[in-house]
Amino acid sequence: MSTVAKPIPDLVEPPAQAVLRNRYGHFSGDGREFVITDPRTPRPWVNVIANPRLGLVISQTGSGFTWIDNSQLAVITRWQQDLACDCSGKFLYARDADSGEVWSLSPAPVWAKLDAYACHHGLGYTTFVTERSGIRAAWTLFCHADETVELWRVALHNLSDRPRRVELCACLEWCCGVAPAPRREFHKLFIETEFDAERRAIFARSHMWEVPSERWGHWNTAFPYVSALACTEPLLSAQGDKAAFVGRYGDLRNPLALGQSLWRPRFGRHEDPIAALRCMVELRRGQQRRVGFALAVSETRAGVVRLLERTLNVDAIDQALDAARTAWSKRLAAQRVQTPEPSLNYLVNDWLRYQAISGRIWGRCGYYQQSGAYGFRDQLQDAQVWLTIDPPQCRRQINLHAAHQFADGSVYHWWHPLTEQGHVTGISDDLLWLAFVTASYIRETGDLSILWDESPFLDEGGVRAGRQAEAQGAEQETSRGGEATRPGFPLLDHVYRAFQRVFSRTSLRGLPYIGAGDWNDGLSACGLRERGESIWLGHFLAGLLRDWAEILRRAATMPRSDPAAGTAPGWPLAAGAAELAAEFERRREALLAAINEHGWDGQWYIRATLDDGSKLGSAENRVARIFLNAQTWAVLSDVAPPQRAARCMAAVREHLVTEAGPLLLAPAFDRPDPRIGYITRYAPGLRENGGVYTHAATWAIAAACKIRDHELVGRLLAAINPALKDPELYWAEPYVTAGNVDGPASAYCGRGGWTWYTGSAAWLHRVVNEWVLGVRPELDGLRIDPCLPPGWRQAAVTRPWRGGTYHIRLERAGSPSATGKLTIAINGRTVADALLPPPTRAGERFDVLVRIA
Ligand code: GLC
Repeated sequence: MSTVAKPIPDLVEPPAQAVLRNRYGHFSGDGREFVITDPRTPRPWVNVIANPRLGLVISQTGSGFTWIDNSQLAVITRWQQDLACDCSGKFLYARDADSGEVWSLSPAPVWAKLDAYACHHGLGYTTFVTERSGIRAAWTLFCHADETVELWRVALHNLSDRPRRVELCACLEWCCGVAPAPRREFHKLFIETEFDAERRAIFARSHMWEVPSERWGHWNTAFPYVSALACTEPLLSAQGDKAAFVGRYGDLRNPLALGQSLWRPRFGRHEDPIAALRCMVELRRGQQRRVGFALAVSETRAGVVRLLERTLNVDAIDQALDAARTAWSKRLAAQRVQTPEPSLNYLVNDWLRYQAISGRIWGRCGYYQQSGAYGFRDQLQDAQVWLTIDPPQCRRQINLHAAHQFADGSVYHWWHPLTEQGHVTGISDDLLWLAFVTASYIRETGDLSILWDESPFLDEGGVRAGRQAEAQGAEQETSRGGEATRPGFPLLDHVYRAFQRVFSRTSLRGLPYIGAGDWNDGLSACGLRERGESIWLGHFLAGLLRDWAEILRRAATMPRSDPAAGTAPGWPLAAGAAELAAEFERRREALLAAINEHGWDGQWYIRATLDDGSKLGSAENRVARIFLNAQTWAVLSDVAPPQRAARCMAAVREHLVTEAGPLLLAPAFDRPDPRIGYITRYAPGLRENGGVYTHAATWAIAAACKIRDHELVGRLLAAINPALKDPELYWAEPYVTAGNVDGPASAYCGRGGWTWYTGSAAWLHRVVNEWVLGVRPELDGLRIDPCLPPGWRQAAVTRPWRGGTYHIRLERAGSPSATGKLTIAINGRTVADALLPPPTRAGERFDVLVRIA
C-alpha cells in the first residue's frame, strides 16, 4: 500500500460544472462523464467498458460482470440479469474494524446509508465516490487499454479526526464459461479454485465448457482460460466458497464472513466457487491511501501470473487508468462536431461512438443482451463508426464478415467468435450489408483496392471442410488455425455473389423475396415459402445497384496492378466491370418500375407481401397499416419519384411521428399472426411492434433531411435524444441510445429500453454528420448538404478525409430558419461547387465556411 503525497484527483470535489441535470444526475462540464447522484434510477444506468478482448458491464449500483472474447460463451464472473433488483455482481465491502460497521463502496450489495454518493460513468471507466462515517472512497473499475485485465483502483481518505482501520473485502462469483448458467449445481461441478498466498490471488478455471465441439465431442473440452482475482496488499484472509462467505441462508447484503476475524479457507474442486479477498487499510487522520485489485484472464496460469506482475501495483494501476482514458480521447479526437444543442454534442462527439465501439463492436454486450456473437448485418453497420477516425478497422470488419459467407452468396445471420458456431437462416438482407458497408468504405477512403482483399468462403475448404476433417480425427484447428489455409477470394467476388443470390431470389413481378425476414428480424414468417416479397429490401437493393454501378465503373478503369493492393489483382469476375455496371443500371431501372407498380399503396409504400399474396403495411390492413422503413428508404434510395417521396413522408408525419419519436409501424399488432412472424408476438408497442425503434428512427432523420423538411429533422432529432428525456417517463440512461422506446399501444408510452446494445448509436452519429450537418463523402468529393433544424444559427464539423483535415463552419445568414442557397468558401475563396475536393497532399487543411441564405 502506498501513501500518497499529492491529492488523488478523484478524491477532490467532482467537476463543479454540471450540465443537463435531471433528478438522478448530470453530465460533467465537458460531457465526458455522466454523474449519477441518486442510485435509485428508474432502471439500471450502466457503463459497458471494454477493450478489444476483455469487458465488463457495471451499473450505478455496482452490479455487473466481466467476460473475455465473448460476452456469452466466455463469461468470467457470475451475474443475473434483473432490472428490478440489480444486485448481482462483483462487489467491494468496507468494514470499520473498530466499530464493526459494514458498507459497500457502491450502493449494492449492502445498500447502507451513505453520507455521499456519486457514480461517474466515463469513457473507459466508472468511479464510485462514496462517504460513510468519515471515510471517503473512490472506487474506479476499468479495463486495461491493451491487456486482458480488469483493474480496480481504490482510494481511501480518512476525513475523521481519529486514526481508522478499514477492512476492504472484494468478492465475486466465478462463472468461467457460458452464461447464464442456470443449472448452477451442474455448472459448478467443473470449476476449480486455488489460493496462491504469495501472489495474494485466487485462481479459477473450469474443466468443462458447455459449447458444442465436433473436435472433442459434446461438451468434452475445458474452458480455455484461467482467471485470477488478486490484491496489491497483504491479505488478512481469502475464501473460495460461497456458503462459507455468506453463511447458511445468508446473502451478499450481509455476509457472515465480514464479521469473522478468522476465515476457514475452502478452495479446490468441491466448493461453490467464489473469490473473496480481505485486506486491512490503516489511515491516520486526514490520510489518503490507494489499494488495487486485478481480475486477470489469460489462456494459461503462467499468462495470468505475468499479467499480474505487470499490472498489480498501485502506481501501475494509476498509469493504466490514465492510459485507458487517454486512449479513448485520442481515438475520438479527429472527428468532432459543434451544434447549438450541448447534449447532441456530447452524444455525437463521445458517447455514441463509445457506445458503438465499446459496447457493440468490442464487447458485443449490454445489460439487456449479452450476445458475444457477431450479427452479420449488425456489426458491419456498427463498423461504419470507424470510417472517419480509423478506416482500416472498418476494412478489417468487412473482411471478417466476408469470411462468414458461403460460396452461394448466403451468409451466417450471426456467428460466435471462439467457437465459430453460426446460424443459417432464410433472412434475405444480411448478405447485402456487405455491399452496403464496402460502398461506404470506398466513398470514405476512395480506395478501391479493398475489392481485392481476399477472404475465404465458409464452404470452400473453409470451416465446414475443416470441421469434417476434425470429425474424422484429423489434427486441425477449426476456427483459428484453420482459416489461414483456406483459399481466399476477392471481396469483389463476395459482394458479387451476394448480389447474385438476391437476384436469384426474385419474384415474377421483379421484387426480391423477403424470406425468413429482412432487416426486421421479426417479420420471420412472411416469406418462408419464397413467395412473399419485400418492398423495403427492394428499396435497399435499388440504392445498392445505384452505388455499385458507379463503383464498378471505377473498378473497370483501375490499373491491373495497383501497388496498394499488394499483388497484381486482375479482374476476378467472368463478367467485365463495365458490362456489370451497365447490368446493374438496367436492373435498377426494372426494380424501380416494379416497386412503383406493385409497392405503392396510394398514400405510401407497402412493406411486404406474404406467401399467400396478401399485403403488409397497406391501408387495407387492420393493424400494421404503415411501416417507417418502406417510406424512408424509398426516399434514401431514390426509388420514389418526387411526388411520391413527398406523399409517403407526409404519411410518416401523419401516422408515425409521435412525441416519443417515429414509430416503426402503426398501429401495433395486437395478437400473434403466425403468417407474419414473431414481431406479432411482442406486446403491442414494444420493440419493433409499434415502438420507436431507434435504429430505424435515425434513417427517418436522414430521409427528412433528404426531402429538406427542417422542421421534421428538428423534431425527430430532439425526440430520440436520450439526454432530453424526462427520466420518470423515459427510465433509461440519458447518455446512450435505447434500442427502442415504447409506442402508444404500450401502457408506458415513452419508456426507453434495450439501451447500449443497439445499432442506432453508430447510425445516429453518421446521420447527424452526413445528413443534418450534411458533410457526406462521395466518390469524388465531400458533399456539403446541410439540413439544420429550425433555430440553429450555426454549427461546425471537423473531420479528416483522405489524408486532409476539413474544418467546416455552417452559418445561417439572416433568418434562423433559412433553408436556401449555400455559399461556400474554401480557405477564403468562394467556390461554385458544393463538392469539396479531396486533398492534393497529405495533411492538407481546408477551412470551409458555408453560408446558408
Ligand atoms: C435487432 C437485430 C438487427 C435487426 C433489428 C430490427 O436489432 O439485431 O439485426 O436489424 O433488430 O429487427
